[in-house]
Amino acid sequence: MIYIKTAEEIEGMRAACDLVSRTLGEVAKWVVPGVTTRKLDNVAREFILDNGGKPACLGYQGFPGTLCIEVNETVVHGFPSGYVLKEGDIIGTDCVAELNGFNGDSCYTFWLGEIEEKTKRLLRTTYESLYKGIEAAQPGKRIGDISNAIQTYCEKAGYSVVREMCGHGIGKSMHEEPEVPNFGRRGIGPILKPGMCIAIEPMINLGSKNVVIENNGWECRTRDRKPSAHYEHTIVITEDGNEIMTTFRYIEEALKEKGIELINH
Ligand code: MF3
Ligand code: CO
Repeated sequence: MIYIKTAEEIEGMRAACDLVSRTLGEVAKWVVPGVTTRKLDNVAREFILDNGGKPACLGYQGFPGTLCIEVNETVVHGFPSGYVLKEGDIIGTDCVAELNGFNGDSCYTFWLGEIEEKTKRLLRTTYESLYKGIEAAQPGKRIGDISNAIQTYCEKAGYSVVREMCGHGIGKSMHEEPEVPNFGRRGIGPILKPGMCIAIEPMINLGSKNVVIENNGWECRTRDRKPSAHYEHTIVITEDGNEIMTTFRYIEEALKEKGIELINH
């Protein structure tokens, strides 16, 4: 069943979403060559705990990190490790923070140094598709309208949409109904209603849409080992549209501080 949140619950969601957004802002400061992905994970965990929250992914069905780390061909659910970041990498950091019983979910894909133009365009397209999906998330419309907006935008640009992983409802649990696929037909699926909270998270591949799950049952990478990009916001449907409850503002401030151009410049 799809939970419709009360005004008070939405306040709780806003606070959790602000915490996860600030967490990724801290992580952004550490996304530099020479740093391990385990260091990024430690930064995120400590920041969440210091701010009274709980790292929701850590221990979730046995997941071993606060962050899902998505380097290059990793699509989702990569483990933090001793891998040392280097120029030319793209790195997605996906995080869920729980605060006072509510969950905020967000993901941002960074890049380091010079990357190929088609990879840069993959990041920009995926980023923009997230906002296309959000624009389509209007009260009275349906989940399929979000899905179709993302798919159409990304496929027109020549990229492919991962089928196995979806966005989702979110609230007291990090995964609630409904599923929010990044592909599908307009006008199908549950109707969007004010008070519904959903995480929209396009996962888009440079090459084919096919993915492989590693033997640990979690880490998901592209079958052709070409790069994959991932951006995510948690939103709430309102009477007259929607409100994006997570923000990339803290990340963008950190990137500006480092003199890095933004993907959406
Ligand atoms: N945004 C990711 C998702 O919705 C977060 C996964 S956390 C994990 O799937 F614990 F499942 F890894
Ligand atoms: Co999510």
